Amino acid sequence: MQNKIQILQDKITQAQAGGGAERIAKQHKNGKLSARERIILLLDEGSFEEIGMFVTHRSRDFGMEKQQFLGDGVVTGYGTVNGRLVYVYSQDFTVFGGSLSETHAEKICKIMDLAMKNGAPIIGLNDSGGARIQEGVQSLGGYADIFYRNTMASGVVPQISAIMGPCAGGAVYSPAITDFILMVENTSYMYVTGPNVVKTVTHEVVTHDELGGANTHAAKSGVTHFACANEITCIQNIKQLLSYMPQNCEEDAPIYAYQSTKDELRPELATIMPENPNQPYNMHQVIAGIIDTDSFLEVHRDFAENIVVGFARLGGRSIGIVANQPAYLAGVLDIKASQKGARFVRFCDAFNIPLLVLVDVPGFLPGTDQEWHGIITNGAKLLYAFCEATVPKVTLITRKAYGGAYDVMNSKHIGADMNYAWHTAEIAVMGAKGAAEIIFKREIDAANDKAAMLQEKTDEYTEAFANPYQAAARGFVDEVILPEHTRQKLLKAFAMLQNKVARLPQKKHGNIPL
Ligand code: HXC
Repeated sequence: MQNKIQILQDKITQAQAGGGAERIAKQHKNGKLSARERIILLLDEGSFEEIGMFVTHRSRDFGMEKQQFLGDGVVTGYGTVNGRLVYVYSQDFTVFGGSLSETHAEKICKIMDLAMKNGAPIIGLNDSGGARIQEGVQSLGGYADIFYRNTMASGVVPQISAIMGPCAGGAVYSPAITDFILMVENTSYMYVTGPNVVKTVTHEVVTHDELGGANTHAAKSGVTHFACANEITCIQNIKQLLSYMPQNCEEDAPIYAYQSTKDELRPELATIMPENPNQPYNMHQVIAGIIDTDSFLEVHRDFAENIVVGFARLGGRSIGIVANQPAYLAGVLDIKASQKGARFVRFCDAFNIPLLVLVDVPGFLPGTDQEWHGIITNGAKLLYAFCEATVPKVTLITRKAYGGAYDVMNSKHIGADMNYAWHTAEIAVMGAKGAAEIIFKREIDAANDKAAMLQEKTDEYTEAFANPYQAAARGFVDEVILPEHTRQKLLKAFAMLQNKVARLPQKKHGNIPL
């Protein structure tokens, strides 16, 4: 009996050693943690339960039968984060470079299946040289098995992918299907084909980092939602992200304690709006003035900065915020901003997180670049996402809401439950000067002093339309409020909407303009 206990203990020790001390030291030298160290950092102390510790690959080519590592390059199991169940897989780069074999994939699929059946998030810590080269099609099949489960799990349980090393070839498509991607600066990269292939095919010379590093994907492609300075901040970020989410699509997000003041007035909100309507201000100040103190987690911070999206808490409850940013490109809507906003709205709607939309938008960005790259299709994504969302939806127009962008930004017409406007709001088909130039063209052309006539007509249009009262008269805006009352009003509105039930028409699925 003693001997059998010893066998088990030896196997556990062997499995926990991964690819061995030397390879773990190399991992550390490269600024990376081991697969198990990452899990320890992520989960509550002592909560990890491992599944499939003794799994080995079945490969018999290239002498692989002699190279067996217990666990086969991925540590899988479940545990808790802040007391809440999560399923996790962590690829072990010290074993065949974390490459994905048939059995490695089976381990990941097993925990994904459990996560789906039990309704808890899946967190993938990716650090892998891709398909196990010694295996071939079994490995490719393993990837596809994961992609299929990622898709089935989409909208059922939250899925988060951290990229903590290489992630190349078709392997990038599992993270891409999940809800959020986090990358670590300097040690992680994602691309479909690496710098060598790029050089051969397009003659471009580019480094790994330029092609697919964290900052590239955070700012240029938008593939990653977060670029993290190191693995520790990456894991902290995952935990923070989870705190805003429910466990699955049937539940609500957890409720947190918050500091309330008796009247919930926020006088600082009254000092943000500049006198001149063409001057920018920072929408982050508005957000900070509304939400529970320090509760904002910005998503996609460096991508399409003309729109701000992120999670926050209002009265201790999670909300998703989508806000135009007048401090960047005047808050105009373009292709990237539409994609960013739409994806965030759909996540919030899938997981019962109410939406707060802050509007200060001069319209859609004109120009051939935008038109030729499909601002029509892409702008329609944001429109579609808001129309389709059935969670409580509240809009506040702080200043401009012009043209089609007024409709798109969660207007009453597309299903917003409560629409507020500050007294500084301007809701019109277009800006006053542009409008005057079109509708008073004849008068302006005929005038001796054209500039004076243009100014007069601009003032006339401003007087008539650059305010919230036409919209309020028709009920498109429910209430015109002073900025300092915003938090108070929104707390009440979201509490009033807490039990909202809305259903989409029966259908297989919609056809969002992808
Ligand atoms: C098997 C692999 C491997 C792989 C690395 N290793 N990648 N083993 N299959 N795909 C092994 C190495 O042999 C080595 O073993 C150990 O992992 C560490 O690799 P190094 O090269 O020493 O590390 P490093 O210098 O850090 O380079 C890491 C790397 C490089 C950039 C990932 O290993 C690399 O380019 N690997 C091949 C990547 C690749 O082409 N993968 C296939 C992509 S196609 P020892 O024993 O020395 O420790 C693909 C298709 C997926 O994935 C399609 C899905 C639909």
